[in-house]
Amino acid sequence: MLQNHLILVQKLRVSVMSTKTTKFFSTLVLDTIATREREGIVRPDMLQMLMQAKKGTLHDDTSNSPGSKKINIEDDDIVAQAFLFFLAGFDTASTLLCFASHQLAVHAHMQVRLQEEIDETLQKNDGKFTYEAVNSMKYLDMVVSETLRLYPPGAALDRVCIKPYTLKSDPPMEMHPGQALFIPVIGLHRDSKYYPDPERFDPERFSEDNKHGINPLTYLPFGLGPRSCIGNRFALMETKLALVFLLSRFNLVLVAKTPVPIKIVQKGFNMSIEGGFWLGLEKRNP
Ligand code: HEM
Repeated sequence: MLQNHLILVQKLRVSVMSTKTTKFFSTLVLDTIATREREGIVRPDMLQMLMQAKKGTLHDDTSNSPGSKKINIEDDDIVAQAFLFFLAGFDTASTLLCFASHQLAVHAHMQVRLQEEIDETLQKNDGKFTYEAVNSMKYLDMVVSETLRLYPPGAALDRVCIKPYTLKSDPPMEMHPGQALFIPVIGLHRDSKYYPDPERFDPERFSEDNKHGINPLTYLPFGLGPRSCIGNRFALMETKLALVFLLSRFNLVLVAKTPVPIKIVQKGFNMSIEGGFWLGLEKRNP
């Protein structure tokens, strides 16, 4: 069935993005490749690996056979992979940062508690934030985890069934190979069966005492299984670092344009709020 859908999509020339956006990304990637090839620029990044893969000079560390393996990829595949990384890695993290900042501005007492944790951690570490220092901050983790529960940037997951399977639902549901499946992450995250008073922003759900009560199958901000988010740890570290640096120097405050309460809108791929995110920055006393 999925195969038929794909054929239909190709025949009707359906595109997920506007022609302008598609052109912007393909020009960006293809120009970068052309410049690197012309100037002999080599960078230790993903684009370089994709260029090597196309030429057949990429060494496959996971394979037992020595040497390199030629993978059949076209320029379009390279553009698609680069775009996927941009979309998967850039927009999701900025969405998380926006929602977390908004919640902290609305719940000023939570912001103060987080700033106390940040100040203490800074003091203990001679003013430096190391990987370990940021990871040791428990309240920061609670705030970020709760933001990802209430506002998961990946609001749904998709999978294709590859073998017959009966879902243990009520009534049981037969799945057949080729069928597509959508897993409503945001629906699970906001189900009162799993999270009492689900619409309330409450980082305490993820405290040391409470978090063990959460069924991991009902908390999927980064997906699950072999195709789960490969940027999970990096994403948490970059967003936590951004919050730490920001809140160590500034208070996030509500301004006249800050929408309260917020109304979620789905703009293209990304989750946002009506009116956009508007917040004020107030310099903290040293
Ligand atoms: C807060 C930030 C992020 C969130 C909430 C997030 C969420 C997700 C989710 C829900 C998926 C689908 C997982 C599944 O189907 O089981 C995914 C996949 C993916 N993510 Fe992330 N992500 C984030 C940041 C990043 C970053 C920073 C990168 C790259 C540097 C990244 C790269 C990817 C890639 C490449 C995939 C596809 C993996 C595959 O299909 O094997 N993500 N992400």
